[in-house]
Amino acid sequence: MGWMTWQRFRCITDCAKYPDECISERLIKRTADLMVEKGYADAGYKYIVIDDCWLEKNRSDDGYLLEDRARFPHGMKALAHYVHSKGLLFGIYENYGNKTCAGYPGIYGHEKVDISRFADWGIDYIKVDGCYFYGNDYSKGYELLQKTLNSTGRPIVYSCSYPAYEDESSIPTDFQLLADNCNLWRNYDDIQDSWNSVTQIVDWFALKQDHIAKFAGPGHWNDPDMLLIGNYGLSYEQSKTQMALWAILAAPLLMSNDLTDIRKEYEEILLNKRIIEIDQDPLGIQGLRVYRRSSIEVWTRKISPVNIDEYSYAVAFCSRRTDGSPYEFTTTLRRIGLKFTMGYTIQDVYSGDEWDGIYLSNTNLTVRVPPTGELNACLFIRFLFI
Ligand code: DGJ
Repeated sequence: MGWMTWQRFRCITDCAKYPDECISERLIKRTADLMVEKGYADAGYKYIVIDDCWLEKNRSDDGYLLEDRARFPHGMKALAHYVHSKGLLFGIYENYGNKTCAGYPGIYGHEKVDISRFADWGIDYIKVDGCYFYGNDYSKGYELLQKTLNSTGRPIVYSCSYPAYEDESSIPTDFQLLADNCNLWRNYDDIQDSWNSVTQIVDWFALKQDHIAKFAGPGHWNDPDMLLIGNYGLSYEQSKTQMALWAILAAPLLMSNDLTDIRKEYEEILLNKRIIEIDQDPLGIQGLRVYRRSSIEVWTRKISPVNIDEYSYAVAFCSRRTDGSPYEFTTTLRRIGLKFTMGYTIQDVYSGDEWDGIYLSNTNLTVRVPPTGELNACLFIRFLFI
């Protein structure tokens, strides 16, 4: 869990024009301060990651990467130190290719030198993008990087973007190798600040779930990309939905927003303890879309506590209907995979309210799912077996 610059701050480098938004030491320090002050660090958001556009346009004469000193006047080592002094962890971006996507020097051909420099700076996380790669096997290159990272002796989270590039070119990804080499990986297109982008990503994950979900687990995760919550594109209900579905997908929770001015109710979504607990469930089992009909979707994730082979579940009933009032939907729990015969208790995950009664696997459960459009919400509940 953490925060990343890209979605909200992109490649803004003109600090004279946009002093509060440019990719700079100032932005990172401000965010680090706010992560602590506003309770994000306590809630579990620990990594601060600078995405593309932190470098000088060229390497030094002796071949080293240079941080842009106008925007990072004290250098990356000092910045890492600052982030660490706040009890947080520090991440950086590079690209396995000749250039980064935004045109800054890439790491290809300089792997050893660059990575040992990053380790010396004290980085704890690296996102390795996949633009401008002219070789013919991404996975081999990323495996070499994994070995180079390990040889530094410093624990560094390794985020691999190549599956998204392979997907784009219809190259089949070897997910077992990926899970062996990378801690998380981007599967699909970049998230944009819109509901449409969220639904496209979610649909891709549902379409591919039989193939990809089994490769997620502690230490190796599918990554549907950053949380948009607190920005311009999502309504309040849509923000709740993104958070719920990211938790069902066992997704890394990497916010990309401006922590200075997030409205209270959006902050509450990002800080919701119950959703975070589901997302971070120690079993690490990725959830699935188990039902879709009449524009109602049901997503379930197995979570702890667990007893032999009985699980508790996080369940999101989501609507894409556009016909107005909340839609009444009835199912048995068995039909959506909850089979424990003694039954379950239910808690509303957003509010924490407990529902009355015990819910048996073969009796009908009727829920009202809020509609789509301006409002777009899921009913997000947690079933604990009894
Ligand atoms: C493409 C990636 O998918 C994005 O997340 C971001 O890292 C940009 N490249 C940066 O150029």
